This record gives sequence, structure tokens and C-alpha cells, in this order.
Amino acid sequence: MRTLEWENNKLKLIDQTKLPDELTYVYCENYKDVIIAIKDMVVRGAPAIGVAAAFGMALGYLAGEDMEKVASEIKAARPTAINLFWAVDRVAKSENPLDEALKMFDEDIETNLAIGKYGSEVIEDGDTILTHCNAGALACVDYGTALGVIRAAFNEGKDINVICDETRPRGQGASLSVWEMQQENIPVKLIPDVASGFLMSQNKIDKVVIGADRIAKGGVVNKIGSLMVALAANHFNVPFYVAAPLSTFDFEASVFDTEIEERSADEVIYYGGARICPEGTEVINPAFDIVPKELVTGIITEKGIIDPI
Ligand code: MRU
Repeated sequence: MRTLEWENNKLKLIDQTKLPDELTYVYCENYKDVIIAIKDMVVRGAPAIGVAAAFGMALGYLAGEDMEKVASEIKAARPTAINLFWAVDRVAKSENPLDEALKMFDEDIETNLAIGKYGSEVIEDGDTILTHCNAGALACVDYGTALGVIRAAFNEGKDINVICDETRPRGQGASLSVWEMQQENIPVKLIPDVASGFLMSQNKIDKVVIGADRIAKGGVVNKIGSLMVALAANHFNVPFYVAAPLSTFDFEASVFDTEIEERSADEVIYYGGARICPEGTEVINPAFDIVPKELVTGIITEKGIIDPI
């Protein structure tokens, strides 16, 4: 399964808004289609957004568009995942945008396999691993970062169990991570986000492995709720790992300067299509939070496991 693919000069994307019920595809014929797909979260997850953006640049180039305009419009699609900016800048500097995007596609898979290999070293036989949101194949071209670590450990024959946080408000843990684990018969259970602290207090979680949208000086940015998981893990001495490629790092900036995306109030107001609060309710809906580095046990990269920066 590939989250995205270059097919007949179009970008083919799994429509992640339709999972887990339907496996359907969206085809982007021009760079504006790619921007819409990123904004609407047809494609989401930092590495997948990056590679989709690279193909968006390629579509712009093939159509003879003004590449500066294309680059700035694609960068404005979502503000937090650094891979989007990294990918657009890398393609902008390249001689042939399509060749560069295809190279990034291949590299993403290689990178995740390497992350899986290093990460599985910290997973022990019998571990129950909590993950948050979806840092799986669907968040990348394939295989995944956090779920790549889990896949690698499982494929090595380790007896592991996975617990997925539901990940309100959009439910990527419930709809995407659980689905991915089920596809490969990896034992998985779903919990409401509010349950992870209690399970840690009962010694029912041995490790946490999550992904990242940006890693900079002082900590890690990831899906909203990651901070609460990290605080609970720290309190109950549960190792808290972040799995991410080096393309997710910004070695210069402070993590606390990251722009945190604020998404639509409707994501919180409606649940399963039904309104769950009084009409006119005001909402705060940040899509990401920041885990300070003191709470991070290690960062699993394609070059090995490192300390947070
Ligand atoms: O809003 P999303 O679904 O794009 O957020 C995704 C996450 O927060 C992932 O954990 C992160 O991008 C890492 S994906 C390998």
C-alpha cells in the first residue's frame, strides 16, 4: 500500500478522510488540487505532506507555472509540519522538480525502514506500546515512523501489543492507526484519549512511541494530546520515544516559536456528524502541541537513536 503515488502525470492519493470504511483515491491534476488535498487532510502526516508537496511542485513545473508563486501557495497549505517547507525548498533548488519528487518518494520509504530497524531495538518481547495519532504508513509514503518501529518489532517476531489513542478531534488513531495495524494482524486495542494516564498507572503500558511534525531546539511538536501523554509517561516512568526522519528537524529554531495550526471549531463541535454542545459554543482547537525535551527519552531517526535537541 502506498499513501501516494505518481501515476500518468497525476498525483494519486489515498483519501484518508474516507478511511476506515472506504479505500478510495483522489487524483491531483495540478498543484492547486494538491493544496486542497493537504488543507482538507485527504493527505496528512508530516512526511506524506512533504512528499505530496514535492509532487505539487512538479505539477506546477510541468504546467509551466510561476514556480515562486507555486512554492509560496503550497507552503501556506498547513503551517506546522516542517516537512512541507523542507520539501518545497528542496524541489525549488533542484534542476528537475519531477525527478526530485520521485527521489524523495523513494527516500521516504528507505528512511522509514531505517527508523524501524533502529527503533525495534528498544522494543522488548511482551511490550505493550501506546501510540498517538497516526504516524504510520498513511502519514508517510509507506511503512511509517512510529508505526514503522512497531511493524519492524512485530516482523522480527516480537510478541507485542499496540494501544492507539483515539486522538480527538479528528480521530486519526481510531480511523487510521487501528486500521493499519489490523491490515497486518498486529494486535491492537483502541482507547479514548483520556484513558492513557490510568493505564500507565496500572502498569499496562510499557512504552510510548509517537511521531513528530517538527523537532527543534527544546522539544518536539506533534498532534494535540502528545503533551498530556508525555506528562503521564514521565510521572509513571514509562519511556517516551519519538520516531521521526531528519527532515523533521530544525536545528536552528526554538521549538517554542513553532506556529501551531488552529483548525475549524466544527471539528470539536460535531462528533460523528452530530452536534455535541449547545449552539453558539466557542471553541479552542489547536491541532498540535509541544512536548518539552525533558519529557522525551529518545528520538529514533534513520541514523540511530539520539537525544532531543
Ligand atoms: O494533523 P495530522 O494528521 O497531519 O497530524 C499528524 C501527526 O501529528 C503525526 O503524528 C506526525 O505528522 C508524524 S507522521 C509520521
